[in-house]
Formats: sequence, C-alpha cells, structure tokens
Amino acid sequence: MPLGDILISQTEIRRRVEVLGRQIGEAIPPGDLHVIATLKGALFFAVDLVRALGREATLGFITASSYGSGTESSGKVLLHQEDIGEPAGRHLLVVDDIIDTGRTLLAVTESLRAHRPLSVRTAVLIGKPARREAAIEADYVGFTIDDIFVVGYGLDYDEKYRTLPDIHFFSP
Ligand code: IMP
Ligand code: MG
Repeated sequence: MPLGDILISQTEIRRRVEVLGRQIGEAIPPGDLHVIATLKGALFFAVDLVRALGREATLGFITASSYGSGTESSGKVLLHQEDIGEPAGRHLLVVDDIIDTGRTLLAVTESLRAHRPLSVRTAVLIGKPARREAAIEADYVGFTIDDIFVVGYGLDYDEKYRTLPDIHFFSP
C-alpha cells in the first residue's frame, strides 16, 4: 500500500495556515495585493490562505509543471499564464505547494517579475530544504519536512490523492 500514515493532519494544517495568513496579510504593505496560486497543487492551500489574510486581495493562477509522472522532477519547468490576472503595479504573493529543488518557484517568480509588480513575495505550504538546487528560498513556509514524498491537501502522485484532507507519507 503506497499511501502511508498521516504526516500533517488537517487540524495542524488549518491552524498553521491561519497563523501564516494573518502574518502575511500584516507584513505586506498597504496597497493592492494580488495573489497568484500555482495550479494545481497549491489550490487547496491558496483558498485557505487568502481567507486568512484579513485584507482584500485579487486572485490569479499560473500553471507550472515540472513533474512528469514520478516522484522526481524532470528539471524543466513549463508555465501557462493565461489566468495570472493583472500583476503590474501590485504587491504579488505567489503561493505554491512545495519548494523542493526550487526550480519551479524560481521560474514562476522570474516570469512574474517581467510584469512589473510593485513587489513579489512567496508562500509555500511545504519546504524541503534538503533538495534545494536553485538559488531561492520562500519568504513564508508552512511546514519544513525531510526529503520524503507526500500527498494530500492538493499534493498529488500522478494526479491522484489531491483531495485527501490530510497530508500523508507516500512511497510508490
Ligand atoms: P521543484 O521545482 O523541484 O521545487 O518542485 C516543486 C514541485 O514539485 C512542487 O510544486 C510539487 O508540484 C512537486 N513536488 C515536490 N515534492 C513533492 C511531494 O512530496 N509531493 C507532491 N508533489 C511534490
Ligand atoms: Mg506544483
């Protein structure tokens, strides 16, 4: 059975995301805030996080795919940005599910900077510092974990297990 035990429960997730959301909402200077969530992994995290910000924000989406269908990154990051909204002149908060090698977050933030936002900040649900290759760290990290593969609360293995409410260990 590849699906393992719960690593982070839905209760822990809810508590942490509420704290993180409030902290981010207070830290970003006044002005227009535009949140860009990376699909599909960060969807669940993003909808919980934006409701904890305590301030008005507009919403956009970017699709980043670096994974084929395994647990190892392919290295190449493909971006689809037709629904990013209007980043120009606004404070941007990029929300991603996991920072692993960092290649995805680096590619996403670099491409968004080209739209001339006022500022760019990043929030990730999970940080895996052991595997960092790109020169980037997220500004806000929900949970830091070891180099293990996890699924649930938006995170998938081959498009499966995203809808699980808790985050589980997974070994294919
Ligand atoms: P990076 O470009 O190596 O930082 O990869 C980040 C992306 O890899 C994340 O946005 C996830 O989509 C995927 N990823 C990395 N680790 C996991 C995991 O443990 N479970 C599910 N997806 C993962
Ligand atoms: Mg992803």
